[in-house]
Amino acid sequence: MRSKFSSISTNTEFMYQDMESRGSDHSSPVGRKSRIASSVHDVTDEKPPFGARFLTDEADVWSQNAWDHVPPPDDQDDIIATALARQKSAPIPEDEKIKYNEKPAKNWDNFYKMNASNFFKTRKWLQIEFPELVHAVEIDAGEITIAEIGCGTGSASFPLLAANKNPNLTLKAYDYSSHAIKEVQHNELYLSPPVGTIQASVWDLSSPTLPPDLPEGSVDIVVLIFVLSALHPREWRQAVHNIHRILKPGGVVLFRDYGRYDLTQLRFKGGRLLEDNFYIRGDKTRVYFFELGILP
Ligand SMILES: C[S@@+](CC[C@H](N)C(=O)[O-])C[C@H]1O[C@@H](n2cnc3c(N)ncnc32)[C@H](O)[C@@H]1O
Repeated sequence: MRSKFSSISTNTEFMYQDMESRGSDHSSPVGRKSRIASSVHDVTDEKPPFGARFLTDEADVWSQNAWDHVPPPDDQDDIIATALARQKSAPIPEDEKIKYNEKPAKNWDNFYKMNASNFFKTRKWLQIEFPELVHAVEIDAGEITIAEIGCGTGSASFPLLAANKNPNLTLKAYDYSSHAIKEVQHNELYLSPPVGTIQASVWDLSSPTLPPDLPEGSVDIVVLIFVLSALHPREWRQAVHNIHRILKPGGVVLFRDYGRYDLTQLRFKGGRLLEDNFYIRGDKTRVYFFELGILP
């Protein structure tokens, strides 16, 4: 089974096309100066993907929320070192870590109860970054099953469904927060999808069993948007194993997640550090900041 991983780390917005072919392109915010472009898109396209947004006309300065040729400041390494030292000087005590890792699904449930269902913005960039999704929703694309795992309230699934012209598209959406899944199930698009089908269920990606409606080798595309970062690093192996099991031979995994030394990471104060590069937010949800090559 071959899985192509497309990934982007967020905020710092690096674009990687294929984890299998990443070679020495092991970018991190520190190594950002040399990063150039997306390899799946024409960088002159009207809407360039992350990693290909170069300001050529000053008048366009406000047309993107970031420009990709801006290098980090010269003292970036010092800024990172200072922030990490501050965080490491006041980590979460060992006996308290247990409670933060005990019921992560409950913490996400509480998060969704406290926040509006549109807290996470609609992922409009999905089809710009992942051409596989453009193809999947075409009228004559044929039978395609997409599984979005960690779908939250559907900020990726619903834009896909709204754009879908493929009557043979099956969209399966999973999250371990039952509250989030209820929100998905009450969405109008869920109740009467114009084209294709959608089914949302509660499932924990890190559990040893697959969802009953998802046999092994049944999925063409797995979508993971800011999800693996919510898992404890010790849960990654099972999660990746599950993804591997549900994929068809040649299936692809499309994921985007937080990038190492993102400003969001550096701004964490003391009392938030669970493990290296892994933090607990104020709302008790967890977040890991990735570099390429560290997933099992
Ligand atoms: C940061 S939110 C992202 C939600 C959505 N993908 C989006 O982009 O808006 C992370 C989501 O992953 C879900 N999640 C975290 N760990 C999970 C797990 N082990 N199994 C299933 N869902 C998980 C959380 O409940 C939450 O909805």
